[in-house]
Amino acid sequence: MLREKYKDEIEQILSRYSVKRSALIPLLYVAQRDQGYVTEAAMKEIAQILTLTPPQVYETITFYTMLNLKPVGKFHIQVCKSLMCALVGSDSLIGWIKTKLGIAPGESTADGNFTLSAVECLAACGTAPMMQINDDYYERLTEEKVDRILADLRSTGTSQLKSGPFMWPEAPKAQV
Ligand code: FES
Repeated sequence: MLREKYKDEIEQILSRYSVKRSALIPLLYVAQRDQGYVTEAAMKEIAQILTLTPPQVYETITFYTMLNLKPVGKFHIQVCKSLMCALVGSDSLIGWIKTKLGIAPGESTADGNFTLSAVECLAACGTAPMMQINDDYYERLTEEKVDRILADLRSTGTSQLKSGPFMWPEAPKAQV
């Protein structure tokens, strides 16, 4: 039970919001951190805490690609497949990763290390094609970069090639 295991954290989250249901996403993160994905039991419990119905919780989880309804690998690779990334080759990158890891979107490697997903826009269109692995962005990808990232993740669990926190690009300066 989340309420027993994370009593203080849940109370602290609830205290931040005047409208109870606003705590939905933070509570779903607590559940996901606990099991690696949001279990059906957690979904029902969160619905109860927030006086929502389980379908209301379910529809929120299915809307956001950062929330998982089934277990994912140690590294969850989410490649953006939306228009800007598609225009500069996200399809072939997905194909490249598929070949390298032997898994299609929605699948995980047998060793539990990698899960591949093709997701909608992650708001880094200016540095397409891009992917998110766990909480990190990797942008302006090429096949060579993807190879290095996968090799780094396999050997050290992290890659120097990750981008910094997402920043909106600066507006062009007006010409005078
Ligand atoms: S279209 Fe890929 S990040 Fe927006």
